[in-house]
Amino acid sequence: MAQHACEWLVARIGDHLQQSEQPFVLALSGGSTPKRLYQLLGDLTPGTVDWSRVCLVWGDERPVAPDHVDSNFRLVRENLLDHIEIPATNVLPVAGADGDPAQAASDYAQLLNDRLPKVNGLPQLDCALLGLGDDVHTASLFPHSAAISEETRCFVENYVDKLGCWRLSLTAPILNAAGAVVFLIAGEKKRQALQALWFADRNPQLYPAHLIRPRSGHLWTMVDQSAVDGVEFPNDSQVRRIGELN
Ligand code: 6PG
Repeated sequence: MAQHACEWLVARIGDHLQQSEQPFVLALSGGSTPKRLYQLLGDLTPGTVDWSRVCLVWGDERPVAPDHVDSNFRLVRENLLDHIEIPATNVLPVAGADGDPAQAASDYAQLLNDRLPKVNGLPQLDCALLGLGDDVHTASLFPHSAAISEETRCFVENYVDKLGCWRLSLTAPILNAAGAVVFLIAGEKKRQALQALWFADRNPQLYPAHLIRPRSGHLWTMVDQSAVDGVEFPNDSQVRRIGELN
């Protein structure tokens, strides 16, 4: 799955840079799933991706310092940034994530508004990578959390009861304005979450990943065999398992 995502992303970035002067804005997911993708991107032959024309932003961040083991910035730094030539000005981590959450969220939203092109008043992401939690959360949009209802701000602080802490996250408005959104889902532990993502009745409070419906129409779900093997496809579903296509 990570190899496919890497090839897909390299092609998408290349296509964008051929057609546009604007940098390719990529929102990075946290968690463990994208680690292999970041490593593969970091291992690419120099020049495969023109990182000087790619802007990296974070889909969410934990309330920790950037060198903390739980930091999503540290995940990207160790597996990608330390292995590529990218101008520091192209890398936009969430500053002050271990400080006041409202201030950090406000500052990052301002940074996105200042640095990214805007469409209909929203900072424009060309691609957002997202993970899927076992509880069908995505980014730091957790079930029954306040950020699920956010309709205007692009990046917010969000208190997560089940974790007993604040998180910082992109919101549905900016994610649904993105050029493309890619869920990266791997492992048998994700089977029930994937089933709910694809086939449960729409219920964003219970299944926050249901919020993600990019208006561009480019919503990709990249899965590995062990995640998709456990999914029951309803008979009337448009989705067909690979191999059933005829
Ligand atoms: C985070 C992520 C979060 C993650 C899911 C899946 O900061 O944790 O942004 O949304 O993508 O929790 O995490 P895994 O990839 O570790 O299963």
